[in-house]
Order: sequence, then C-alpha cells, then structure tokens
Amino acid sequence: MKPLFTAFLALGVACATGLAHSQATNPAGAPAQQPAAAAAGAGSATSIEAKVAMCMGCHNIRGYQASFPEVHKVPMIAGQSAKYIAAALNAYKNGDRKHPTMRGIAVSLTEQDIATISGYYESLPKEVKPLGDKPGREPNAQVAGLLQKAACASCHGANYSKPIDPSYPKLAGQHADYLFVALKAYKAENNPAVGRNNGVMGAIAKQFSNAELKVIANYMASLDSELRVHPEPRFR
Ligand code: HEC
Ligand code: HEC
Repeated sequence: MKPLFTAFLALGVACATGLAHSQATNPAGAPAQQPAAAAAGAGSATSIEAKVAMCMGCHNIRGYQASFPEVHKVPMIAGQSAKYIAAALNAYKNGDRKHPTMRGIAVSLTEQDIATISGYYESLPKEVKPLGDKPGREPNAQVAGLLQKAACASCHGANYSKPIDPSYPKLAGQHADYLFVALKAYKAENNPAVGRNNGVMGAIAKQFSNAELKVIANYMASLDSELRVHPEPRFR
C-alpha cells in the first residue's frame, strides 16, 4: 500500500500548493484540472512554480510508481530536452499517446504552458558528469543483435543519450519498467487507453517479442544517464 499512500500524500501536497483550493479534497486525486497558474503573471517565477507543481507529485518523487497499465516507475523527465518533453506532451494532448492520466493533464496545458514547463525540466541543474560517446557497458551478444536489428543508436545516439534530433528521447538510464511499458505501447492496437501512434517506433517495436523488448529495456536502463528525478525539498 506504500505507493498508494505516497500517491495521496503527493497529490495532496501538489493540490495544496499548485491547484485551486477546491481541488485539495478531490478524492480521485485527479490532478491538474484547474491550474492555479492562470492567476499568476505569465513567465514569472511564481507561474512556473505553479505550473510545475501539478507535475511534481509524480515526476519529482524518487521511485514513484504508477499502476496503469501495469505497475511501473513514472518516467524521469528532468534532463530530457525541452523539445522532446514538448513533443511528448503534445502527443498526449492530441491523442497520439493514449495514456489517460497524462492525456488529462496535457489537455489542460496551453502551448505556452508546455513551452514553459518543458524549458524548466530541461534547465534543471545537471548533477551528472558528461557521458562518453559510447555506452559505458557493452550489451551482451543477444542484446547487441537486437539493437543492431533496428539500428536504435542511429536515432537515439551511440550512447543512447544523444539523439540525432532534440525531439527524440534520451533512453540511457531511464527506468527499465517504464521503457518496457513504453515499448509495448508502440505495439498496442485498438485499445482506447493504451497505445502510442508513432510511425517510426510502431514499425520498430512490432519487430520484437515482449521478451525481447524487456531485455532491451533492461540494458538501456543499466547505462549511465543524464536523466534524473529532481526532488523538491518538500518531497525529499
Ligand atoms: C499522476 C501522476 C502524474 C502526474 C501528476 C504527471 N505525470 Fe507525466 N507521466 C506519468 C506517467 C505514469 C507517465 C507515463 C505515461 C505513458 O506510459 O505514456 C508520464 C509521462 C510523461 C511524459 C513522457 C515521458 C517520456 O519519456 O516520454 C512527460 C513529458 C510527462 N509525463 C510530463 C508531465 C508534466 C509536464 C506534468 C505536469 C504538467 C506531468 N507529467 C504530470 C504520471 C504523471
Ligand atoms: C528512425 C529513428 C528511430 C529509431 C531507429 C529508433 N527510435 Fe526509438 N524513438 C524514436 C522517436 C522519434 C521516438 C519518440 C516517439 C514518440 O513521440 O512517442 C522514440 C521513442 C522511443 C522510446 C520511448 C521513450 C520514452 O521516454 O517514452 C523508446 C523506449 C525507444 N524509442 C526505444 C528504441 C529502441 C529500443 C530502438 C531500437 C530497437 C529504437 N527506439 C529505434 C526514433 C527512433
């Protein structure tokens, strides 16, 4: 029950700090229906804090877990590029990514909110030393074969943290269980709540069995990372 308790605690704090007072007692814990940021001046420190407050209850807590469509850690977003964060938020907003919670949140964000929040998560201070060009850990023969088959490095970068385009994600060091869920989502079809419409990753993920996607995810997660959880003092 620990994750559930944390969820309520976190959402309670997020609501109390970031959302209108009326949201604080929302038993479903649905975050982010009424961003308080609307009242604050655009671009001011307060407005950024207020906007990001609705994300912190999940993305800024170490080890925080989601339970849909299966239990997995919430992805690290601090350290992704702003362009990728914005692309992902827009994909939830327009329905290309079907995850219901993130859709509910993304549709409440304006274009300006998305730009502000994405810039904030990209700009968080880096606590990591710069990564080498090659992954610090070589994959075993099985994983190497799988990665070669779909040329993952040709888009996500030789160290899986330097994508060829800033709107593509860094994968190195991301949570293994999240990567597995994300990869399976690209394969999902005809499911209103689970799936990601992306031509490129859809065609790639469908070449692999779930067991293969899992070993790929485990390898990616084991690499040195620029991604991290950035805990707020009150969540430490
Ligand atoms: C209730 C918990 C929760 C809250 C609150 C929340 N998220 Fe998420 N977020 C998730 C989960 C779970 C996922 C994984 C969804 C999926 O599988 O596609 C996710 C995915 C994402 C992704 C995609 C990450 C990737 O690597 O592709 C981004 C970007 C993101 N969230 C940004 C935000 C922002 C910005 C906010 C605040 C405006 C926010 N989230 C609020 C739980 C949450
Ligand atoms: C042709 C370029 C390309 C290739 C090759 C490619 N990817 Fe991707 N990948 C992308 C793009 C673009 C996205 C973002 C898609 C989206 O918006 O959902 C992505 C997203 C992902 C994600 C989701 C990350 C997240 O944070 O949610 C994972 C995991 C992933 N790719 C793994 C792989 C693996 C593993 C391979 C090789 C088997 C691979 N990719 C090959 C372009 C590529």
